[in-house]
Amino acid sequence: MPADAPVVVELTAEQTHPLRLAVLRFDTPTKEVVFPEDTWPGARHLGLQVAGELVAVSSWVPRPCPTDAAALPAVQLRGMATSLTVQSKGYGGVLVERGCALMAADGVTLVWARARDAALMFYLRHGFEVVGDGFIDQNTQLPHHLIVRHLG
Ligand SMILES: CC(C)(COP(=O)(O)OP(=O)(O)OC[C@H]1O[C@@H](n2cnc3c(N)ncnc32)[C@H](O)[C@@H]1OP(=O)(O)O)[C@@H](O)C(=O)NCCC(=O)NCCS
Repeated sequence: MPADAPVVVELTAEQTHPLRLAVLRFDTPTKEVVFPEDTWPGARHLGLQVAGELVAVSSWVPRPCPTDAAALPAVQLRGMATSLTVQSKGYGGVLVERGCALMAADGVTLVWARARDAALMFYLRHGFEVVGDGFIDQNTQLPHHLIVRHLG
């Protein structure tokens, strides 16, 4: 494996905070980087390391999807962020795909997220679809849509 091949690593919630702050909170009214769901049972924090450097983070929280009447085993994807200096190099895509594969291996059949509209194209390229109307997220004041991806 080349030395700079991306590697998925398990993180603590605290290890996601620097990238959450730099990427998700630099232009928002809130600077809060702790999510209440971070410590929920089964929550996992996955990062992508390249040459030993953490370039992307994501959090995966077991939680029913609010629009899924079938109550499928579901995980909410939160805090998806790639370091500002290395965006658009495919790292976010690698992390979301590997994360979905890990969730599927655990029996999860639905991954959902409240996605920023600015990132919708990214998610649509990775098998997610938009559900319902857009809304303004109260914390960030940014426009969002709910998105879902069925696994398997
Ligand atoms: C969305 C994001 C996680 C994607 O990670 P990435 O490593 O850049 O993803 P990839 O390189 O695999 O895919 C790039 C695609 O993501 C989208 N994208 C790139 N930069 C973006 C940015 N600053 N904001 C939103 N989407 C972006 C584009 O569709 C891009 O395609 P392009 O390179 O052809 O223009 C990353 O850009 C990011 O952290 N954005 C800011 C924070 C954010 O919006 N997070 C999602 C919250 S729901």
